[in-house]
Amino acid sequence: MPFTLSRRHFLAGGTALVSAGLVAPAWAKTAPVRLPIPALVDGTRGEPLDLTIRSGVWSFAPGIKTPTLGISQEYLGPTIRTRQNSELNLNYHNTLLEGVSIHGHGLHVPGAVDGGPQLEIAPSDRWQPTLSIVQPAATCWYHSHTHGKTGEQVYRGLAGMMIIDDDLSDDLPLPRNYGVDDLPVIIQDRTFDAKGHLVYSLEYADEDGWLGETVIINGAISSVAYVPAGKIRLRLLNGANARFYIVTFADKRPFHKIACDGGLLRAPVEMTAMEMAPGERCEIVVDLADGAPAGLLTLFEDEFDGQEGTFSSLLDRFLSSRQTALRPSLTLTPDKALPAHTAPLSKRMAEIVHPKPSEIVRTRDFMLAMNGGDGGGHDQHGGHGAMNMTINGAVMDMNVINEEVKRGEWERWRIRSDQGEHPFHVHGCSFLIEQMGGAPTPPDQQGWKDMVVLDNDDWSEIIVRFDHLASKTHPYMYHCHILEHEDHGMMGQFTVS
Ligand code: C2O
Ligand code: CU
Ligand code: CU
Repeated sequence: MPFTLSRRHFLAGGTALVSAGLVAPAWAKTAPVRLPIPALVDGTRGEPLDLTIRSGVWSFAPGIKTPTLGISQEYLGPTIRTRQNSELNLNYHNTLLEGVSIHGHGLHVPGAVDGGPQLEIAPSDRWQPTLSIVQPAATCWYHSHTHGKTGEQVYRGLAGMMIIDDDLSDDLPLPRNYGVDDLPVIIQDRTFDAKGHLVYSLEYADEDGWLGETVIINGAISSVAYVPAGKIRLRLLNGANARFYIVTFADKRPFHKIACDGGLLRAPVEMTAMEMAPGERCEIVVDLADGAPAGLLTLFEDEFDGQEGTFSSLLDRFLSSRQTALRPSLTLTPDKALPAHTAPLSKRMAEIVHPKPSEIVRTRDFMLAMNGGDGGGHDQHGGHGAMNMTINGAVMDMNVINEEVKRGEWERWRIRSDQGEHPFHVHGCSFLIEQMGGAPTPPDQQGWKDMVVLDNDDWSEIIVRFDHLASKTHPYMYHCHILEHEDHGMMGQFTVS
C-alpha cells in the first residue's frame, strides 16, 4: 500500500498538535541520558524466574522522581529471553495492594496460562505459570491485563519485553548481542504535571484514549545509546496506551524491517518510515557503518490527521516546516572501538505458508463501536468515564463467552469499526493479514501478526487458527489495544475447544 495517512481519527484536533512527540517538558530539557536497558533474564534454564510486581520510584528525566510501578524494577520489567521448544517457568509475586493480571502478549499458550483478566493475582499472592514455548522466534511482551485497570497499570509501568529465539533466527546473520547491537526499544508516551509526576485518568481520557504529551523510550525522555559502527537491530515495541507513532530517522536513512509481531518476515523490507500501532512490535536493522549518529524520531501519527498524501510526501512537508531542530527520542551514536556486526542481511528468512482457501472453514465478523450504550457517554464530570465501547454490540463481560472456536481450524475474521482507527489484537495465536482497511497488506506486514489496524473505511481481514485450548474459566480475549477502549469494554472473550 502506498502509505496514505488519511485514515483515522475520532475527534479532530487534540492536544498532540503542539508537540508531535518532539518537545520535552521544560524540566526535562537537559542533556540526553544513556538509554536504559532493561535487565536480561534467561528463561531457558528451566528454573522459575522471580518477577516481583511492585511499586517503584523512577526518574524519567534527571533530578525528577515520580512514583511508578515495575516488575522486579522501578519501572517496566526485565527482558525475558526464552526459546522455541523450551519451558518457561515464571513466578510472579504481587506485592501491590491491588489485584494484577499479567498477560504474555503474542504467546501461543493455552488460556489457563495466558494471564487474562480471570487470572488476577490477589495482593501478596503468587502466580507460577509454566509456559511451553512452541512458536518461532519473535519479539513479544508481557503487561498488565487487569480488568478495568489495564490502562492505568501499564501506564505506571507494568510491562516488559519478551524475546523468543529459535534455530532459524540463530543461523541468520543478524545482530544478537543484547544491549550492544540488539536493543530493546519500548516506545511510550506520558503526561507529567509541573513536578514531573505521572498524570493519568481513565475517566478523563477522550475518544482517542489517554495520549501522553512526551515520548519516553525504556523510561527515558531523549536518550543516547553508544553502539558499534555496524548493523544495529532494534526491537521496537509500541507500548503506548493509545498513541500511533510514525518511526523514522532524522536523516531519513533507510532501514530494513526484518520481523513483525509474530516473527521474521520472508525477506527484509527496506523502508524509511513506518507506522506503529499500540501493542505492535517490529524488528528493524539499521546500518551505522558511516559512523554518523542516527536520531530515531517517534512522531505522533495524529499530527498528520486528515492530510492526504504518501508517507514520504507528508513527512517531507512536516519535517521541512519545522522551525526548531528535531529532538530525537533516541540517538544511536556509533563508537568505532566496539566490535561491529557488518555481515549483509540474508535475502531469505522465514518460510510463511498460507492455508489454501478451501482450508478456511468459517468467517466471523467483528464490529467495534464507540457509540454503543448510553446515549453520548459523557458523565457528569465532563469526562468520558461512562463511555460504552463495544464489539458486536456488547461491552466486555467477564461472565459472557462471546465466541466459541474449534482448535486447529482456519477461520477468516473480518473486523471494522463504526468510527476511527483501532488496533485489534487476538490472544493465543499469530495470524496473517489478508487486507487492512480494504487495501492489500503492505509487504512489511506480510508476516505473522497479532495486531491488525482497522478503521471505518472498510474491513480488515485476517486468517487465523488456534492450536491451544482455552476453557470457559480461562478464555482468550480479543480487543482493541487502545487500553482505554479496552478498559471501557471494547473486548470480548472466546473459548477454543
Ligand atoms: Cu497486549 Cu490482551 O493484550
Ligand atoms: Cu495478547
Ligand atoms: Cu479502539
